[in-house]
Amino acid sequence: MKTNDIGLEVRDSKLLVEKLNKLLANYQVHYQNLRNFHWNVSGPNFFELHAKFEELYTTANESVDEVAERILTLGGRPFSSYSEYIENSSISEAKEVKESKKMVEIIKENLNTLLNIEREVLESASEQADEGTVTLMSDYITAKEKVVWMLSAYLR
Ligand SMILES: [Fe+2]
Repeated sequence: MKTNDIGLEVRDSKLLVEKLNKLLANYQVHYQNLRNFHWNVSGPNFFELHAKFEELYTTANESVDEVAERILTLGGRPFSSYSEYIENSSISEAKEVKESKKMVEIIKENLNTLLNIEREVLESASEQADEGTVTLMSDYITAKEKVVWMLSAYLR
């Protein structure tokens, strides 16, 4: 059995790196959607949404860095260019959105896409006894589920 620097099987980690790169790509597009909405939101909810989008993109930015560095820890190479992100993301770029409610709906949808990928990563990581990745994913999932709940409450 060939192992990497942290003692996990190389073949297993490779599979996980692919999934983590998919997560990274989706995260980056989601991050840019948040920046888009932070800048372009307008209307009576401007102040709260402008601040909320900033809070969410700050968290997303930290997660992007953690996911990329987890990939490196597992011996892989993180996607590092915009073209790789676009090519590998199922979350699409939001472009111009006028309605603030629509912005919140899109962010909620993006978060659900990320949640699904994180659950997939968690499952694979736990099959491989990769506790580091399991913990990372489980923290993300718990935090995101709470944000999704809050956004749902906002939209009701
Ligand atoms: Fe700003």
